[in-house]
Amino acid sequence: MDLKNNLRTETGWKIIEKSFNPEQLVTTGSNFMIGNGYMGYRGTFEEWTAKEYTACIVTDTWDKAEGSKWSELCNVPNGLFTQLFIDDERLSVFSGQTAAYYRALDMKNGLNQRQMRWTSPKGKKVHLNVEKFASLDNHHQLVLNYSFKALQSATFTLVTGIDGDVWSINGEHFANHNTFEQDGLVGLELETAELATKISVVEGASIVGKPPTAETVNHDGRTILRKYHFEMDEGEELTLQKVVAVVHDNEVQHPKKTAIATVQKGLKKGYDTLKQEHTKNWEAFWKKSDIDIEGNLEAQILVRFNLYQAFIATPTHANLPIGARGLSCQVYQGAAFWDQETFNLPMFTYTHPEIAKRLVAYRYDTLPGAKRKAKRLGYYGAFYAWTSGKTGDELFPDYFFTDVLTGRPIRNHFNCWQIHISQDVVYGIWLYYKATRDWDFIIEMGAEVLFEVAQFIVSRVHFKKDKNRYEIIRVLGPDEYHENVDNNAYTNYLTKYALEKACEVFEKLRDENARELERILKNVAIDQDSVKAWEEIASLLYLPEPDENTKVIEQFDGYFGLEDINPKQLRKRLIDPGEYWGWPNGIAVNTQVLKQADVIQLMAMLDGFTDNQLTANYDYYEPRTEHGSSLSPSVHALVACKAKHYEEAYRYFMESSTIDLYNASKKVMSGGSFLGGIHTAAAGGVWLIVVEGFAGFKMYKDGIRFRPALPEEWQSLSFKLHVLSCQIEVSVKTDCLTVHSLAANKKEIKIYFEDRIEMLKPSDSIQFI
Ligand code: BGC
Repeated sequence: MDLKNNLRTETGWKIIEKSFNPEQLVTTGSNFMIGNGYMGYRGTFEEWTAKEYTACIVTDTWDKAEGSKWSELCNVPNGLFTQLFIDDERLSVFSGQTAAYYRALDMKNGLNQRQMRWTSPKGKKVHLNVEKFASLDNHHQLVLNYSFKALQSATFTLVTGIDGDVWSINGEHFANHNTFEQDGLVGLELETAELATKISVVEGASIVGKPPTAETVNHDGRTILRKYHFEMDEGEELTLQKVVAVVHDNEVQHPKKTAIATVQKGLKKGYDTLKQEHTKNWEAFWKKSDIDIEGNLEAQILVRFNLYQAFIATPTHANLPIGARGLSCQVYQGAAFWDQETFNLPMFTYTHPEIAKRLVAYRYDTLPGAKRKAKRLGYYGAFYAWTSGKTGDELFPDYFFTDVLTGRPIRNHFNCWQIHISQDVVYGIWLYYKATRDWDFIIEMGAEVLFEVAQFIVSRVHFKKDKNRYEIIRVLGPDEYHENVDNNAYTNYLTKYALEKACEVFEKLRDENARELERILKNVAIDQDSVKAWEEIASLLYLPEPDENTKVIEQFDGYFGLEDINPKQLRKRLIDPGEYWGWPNGIAVNTQVLKQADVIQLMAMLDGFTDNQLTANYDYYEPRTEHGSSLSPSVHALVACKAKHYEEAYRYFMESSTIDLYNASKKVMSGGSFLGGIHTAAAGGVWLIVVEGFAGFKMYKDGIRFRPALPEEWQSLSFKLHVLSCQIEVSVKTDCLTVHSLAANKKEIKIYFEDRIEMLKPSDSIQFI
């Protein structure tokens, strides 16, 4: 089936690019990428260099380039670099003639593939067949199989090794480059400029087929390359197999030693075995995570693409954050935002709780950073970083955007006023707990986070004596076009939620785990009075209520009084298309136009709103939302489902799921900043739309609920869920829902469907018609 953007799919597992379009080079590099949560390797060609945005971004390598304000992940030297020459002519899609072209992302097996026939400017022909992967079996490993067939006799030269000339959006990260050769392997040892992190990239190569007539190794400062010459006859074939290891000392003590051992082991196993081990892991991932859609191949491939991207962005080997652009590039510093809890965590919680546990544990590990931030700004407790890397200290700079008209930097306050991040962390912990009932996690880690966030809230709210209520002033909600607002609905509701959870956990610990509570209280300076303060604030906190007549909740104090104009009209006021719309003078600031709608976001996350309220708020905010954030379409789809506006929901599902694949994201540049790469939150949002939206899945206190509404063209929708330590299979057809509990499950699960409540036993299925 043909898809938009020059793509096609046959099976719903593979995305195939039909011809090469140089204008799409940045986007396709992201879309066809491979990765394993430790590193992301862009889906570029082997002969490409920094100029074509080849990159291998490695997590846990945060560092500031000299003179830079940005702490970001390193783009490490390219160990897969391989350039073929035919009679001294360089193979390139930019010269000669390319035919029978095929670039594919095989998502079932986590493989990037390329085939093409190339005719050199002088008329010599070669057929190329390449496959590579970032191993899911050994996260340090990149593996390449590069085959070519001479379609005419000629001299072929292969230049392959490690290209150390990498690009970096905010400057050079490496202070030292040492190239070396050891036991037939080539390598580069690097040290980062700020924190002296040692990174080793080691490459091993083997030739399958005829041996080269000559072989040399050249060191060129940052680059170390082998050169092989072959005299080949027409029809002769040759394969270069490469194993590359990327290792740094934030993870292992001796990166060079580990990298060498990894490559040696890999070479010994050979490509086929490495591939088998890798694909087995992908099979295991899909077994729990796949969403199968019958009746609409486009929707199928889009959903899988988003699941694939969400997964390869997520570190599973350590407690580390999911970057807002994953590992597709350095944008947003490879750091976690609130996106992690609100958009990415649900999918992992309900499919791979062990991965979800790492993500919530990461927030515990970074509690010291959150406490440092709170203290620095004059608060108690934990104020989580808006942009959070390894330590949890704030990475977001004071000046993010630039006024493109004057060239002056803009002081944005995301880092100090967007306080909802702490409450979102609590939301994430509770989401994980509700689905797993992992009380041990709460005892060991979660409770401390909840209590520290509650303490932060105590120091951040204001009591208004005249109104006898608490208020939260000078904040930014998720809608970043309106800074410095009071009583933001999203923030206030989530604050109450966070306080209630802290009280609930405190009480449960006091009643059931008194000794553990004592231990926790040694770390958190609170007592019974603190808990009383949490209760009081929770009960007296002002929550903007739905208006009696219109049922609409005001996004923040005074919002309804702002100019009411729609985004399309407002856009006409731009003097420069790259202008930032928000604080302090952007075109949206004094209007009701939103980057993303806070009340819709709130309704996507919390319950308790009536159908009328959902509809009224959706209808009010949707036309006023500009969707300047890639997070916005998925919450609109979700709330449209809740409000039973299914056509709208599908429109937003398509918008959200195509943001990257069809390059639908309108804004690569905003306020002078490049914001390209994979939109990881939107990828997680697709899982939310399908499972929580179209299947209407919801976790209740004592069971689960479904409220399916299958999109029109879909014949069926099937997926698996992991809830309350049980695995279940869900299948939705137009007029029937079937839920099956796997035989290995140990308990019954209560299922809510319309007005039916059923107990599902292990190995049983129940049909709801
Ligand atoms: C959005 C934020 C989001 C960030 C990272 C911004 O454009 O407004 O809500 O956290 O991007 O994805």
